Amino acid sequence: MLPPIIGVVLQKGGVSKTITSVNLADCVARRLGKSCLIIDMDPQGNAGKLLGIPRNVTPSIREVLLDTKNEFPLQKVIRPTSVPRLYIAPSNINLASAESHLRIPELFPHPLKQLRRKLTEEALRDIALVMIDTPPSLGLLTVNVLHACNHVIMPMDSGSDFSFDGLDDMLDVIRAATSEDHAINILGVLLVKHDRRQTLCQSAHQATVTKFGPDAFETTIASSSAVKKSEMARQTLMQCERKSSAARDYMHLADEVIRRLKLTPAPAGVTEAPVAAEELASVGAGHE
Ligand SMILES: Nc1ncnc2c1ncn2[C@@H]1O[C@H](COP(=O)(O)OP(=O)(O)O)[C@@H](O)[C@H]1O
Ligand SMILES: [Mg+2]
Repeated sequence: MLPPIIGVVLQKGGVSKTITSVNLADCVARRLGKSCLIIDMDPQGNAGKLLGIPRNVTPSIREVLLDTKNEFPLQKVIRPTSVPRLYIAPSNINLASAESHLRIPELFPHPLKQLRRKLTEEALRDIALVMIDTPPSLGLLTVNVLHACNHVIMPMDSGSDFSFDGLDDMLDVIRAATSEDHAINILGVLLVKHDRRQTLCQSAHQATVTKFGPDAFETTIASSSAVKKSEMARQTLMQCERKSSAARDYMHLADEVIRRLKLTPAPAGVTEAPVAAEELASVGAGHE
């Protein structure tokens, strides 16, 4: 049985897909006291950068995606990060050319379902949740994510140029990836860079609640300078800016996600379960 797999999707850049993938995975891991895996499907490799993974790291998710000889199970590219219980299958710029390779029918008879095939081959026994970061496009990489995930989170920038532009195209692509044997649940639409005091943000919030109803997350993520600081420190918010409003919001979002997915949090009173040494050893073995 695979754990819940969440794609963080929207074809716009700069809407906090990467920040959300990394920080939400970190907060869920802390709350559950279990390991979470980030799969980076964006050739920009920003999730890995944020977690201090070296540039041009190989093997990467590209090798997994283009594996035709069963040489690269996902397990082979999963690495531990500086955060206990947070693992990553990193990407790099070479992933950009993967789309043209996937279009060679002799090699890939099912180019849209390659990531799904690789994920279902894996046991992922010790992983409680998989979060997939995606590129800002509706191309083959994003479509592969949609065929592999069972939930999506769509972040929307609450700030200056808030609009639902492009959202219908995204929903169409999600629908097209849905079939009788593959449901995709909208886990939530998430307002990010939200400033409650700003009228623009308030109307963005109202518009989102009106359009999506219960599909809009109750939690919003504050606009916070801590996010930039954590990017520069190459650490998660909980590692270096844990008192910030954004860190607090991602912890609340983790609670909401855990509720929506009906997962079991760590025992009452434990806000961050400690890590047992054997847990650390059990996932991502084979890397430092
Ligand atoms: N809550 C936030 N507050 C302030 N800045 C943010 C917040 N979330 C993201 N950002 C900034 O927005 C930029 C884009 O975020 P990113 O996660 O890289 O977007 P995407 O992955 O969708 O392209 C980053 O430079 C980041 O610093
Ligand atoms: Mg990104």
